Amino acid sequence: MSDIVNVDYSTRIPNNVNLTDDRQVLRALERWHPGYIDWWMTMGPDGFQEALVYLRTAVSIDPKGWAKFDYIKMPQYRWGILLAPQEESRKIPFGRHYGEPAWQEVPGEYRAMLRRLVVIQGDTEPASVEQQRHLGKTAPSLYDMRNVFQVNVEEGRHLWAMVYILQKYFGRDGREEAEQLLQRRSGDADKPRMLGAFNEATPDWLSFHMFTFFTDRDGKMQLESLAQSGFDPLSRTCRFMLTEEAHHMFVGETGIGRTIQRTCEAMKAAGIEDPSEINKVRDLGVIDLPTIQKKLHLHYSLSLDLFGSEVSTNAANAFNASLKGRFQETKIEDDHKLESSTYPVLKLVDGEIKRVDEPALTAINMRLRDDYTADCQRGLDRWNKIIDRVGVAFRFQLPHVAFHRQIGEFKEVDAAPSGELLDEAAWNSQKEKWLPSKDDGDFIQSLMRQVVEPGKFASWIAPPRVGIDNKPGDFEYVKLAA
Ligand SMILES: [Fe+2]
Ligand SMILES: [Fe+2]
Repeated sequence: MSDIVNVDYSTRIPNNVNLTDDRQVLRALERWHPGYIDWWMTMGPDGFQEALVYLRTAVSIDPKGWAKFDYIKMPQYRWGILLAPQEESRKIPFGRHYGEPAWQEVPGEYRAMLRRLVVIQGDTEPASVEQQRHLGKTAPSLYDMRNVFQVNVEEGRHLWAMVYILQKYFGRDGREEAEQLLQRRSGDADKPRMLGAFNEATPDWLSFHMFTFFTDRDGKMQLESLAQSGFDPLSRTCRFMLTEEAHHMFVGETGIGRTIQRTCEAMKAAGIEDPSEINKVRDLGVIDLPTIQKKLHLHYSLSLDLFGSEVSTNAANAFNASLKGRFQETKIEDDHKLESSTYPVLKLVDGEIKRVDEPALTAINMRLRDDYTADCQRGLDRWNKIIDRVGVAFRFQLPHVAFHRQIGEFKEVDAAPSGELLDEAAWNSQKEKWLPSKDDGDFIQSLMRQVVEPGKFASWIAPPRVGIDNKPGDFEYVKLAA
């Protein structure tokens, strides 16, 4: 512990925001740092704080060489503060202030709204670390173990990124919010994290890969829309975070892809043609495809809830205020103010799901969610190609947006994955067909055994096609403490 406490963080915090000359912010960060380390030690990866992990660290913002790989103990990770380079004479790309010079300071009239956006984003970062803290103990390989730790330290860095914004631009309330970010806990009854999906458990590796595929992708969409912000420091912070976020989704997509591949190969080898022969497939020590589909239903629907209500005045206000834009705002061809345009929204009208044209301004969440769905679908298409290549008859499908929702238009109704509305009895009698049951969870759990021999993988997941940082297949990604 001693070298953790005595870290000289005026030099150990890599940053490109000139912290050494920004004494006040540096002092605020220094005061926050011990609490962060405390949080990391109690809520970060359980049992692996002494392990040497082959991690990448962000050391620059050069797109070609921003990261450096090395063995490091996680508590000594260099959580840096890195903003994408300032774009000369950047203009606000949307909203009421469209075309005005981007703000370098917080506009007084939007202070509260902006702080709330930063806090909500910031709260998700430590939450996922908390959700994933036990996964090291059941890692299917050292390669996968290293990946979860990489995601964890980077979510830690994303927390730093948001805390920097709070401490530099929001004075005393910013410092209080930064403190609160270390107090809330995922799943805690009294002090839960702010958003639903971040209070769910991540009990096994299939859940983890689903989480990084679906929920980190929600994170990507939120960061993309904040990267458009008229408040330039937030925009620059989010742009750099997106470079790291890409790896998190890679971990999810390839993790599930490798799981599917292993299942299909095992089925082929055993001569099982029918994917619904669940018990026979499970006897091979792999996860049957229908159960993977159920997990997909669960994680997709939880992640849709993160986008908020389809029609939302909060979202309209944030857009109007030029604080939070749309996905790839600058590539959209319209007035960027949404003064008169409409956007189609699926709504519940007289007990039926109907497409209704809403003012585009209030349908901002819906639009972002549609972009998200399209992005998810591309991943599913790649998974389906894996199944095709091995030659199994099965296809993964995203469920209808009305399925299993707790927020927005469809929270009061029950719908099948097809979108068919059901009465309560019909839902209750069939929901275990669509969502993971306790048995499914127990089965997945039964496969979760730690594999730590370099180059070896658990029965249920195929090896990756290439190593991290081009390392060979038997590379020792984690050196466990003796
Ligand atoms: Fe993140
Ligand atoms: Fe992430």
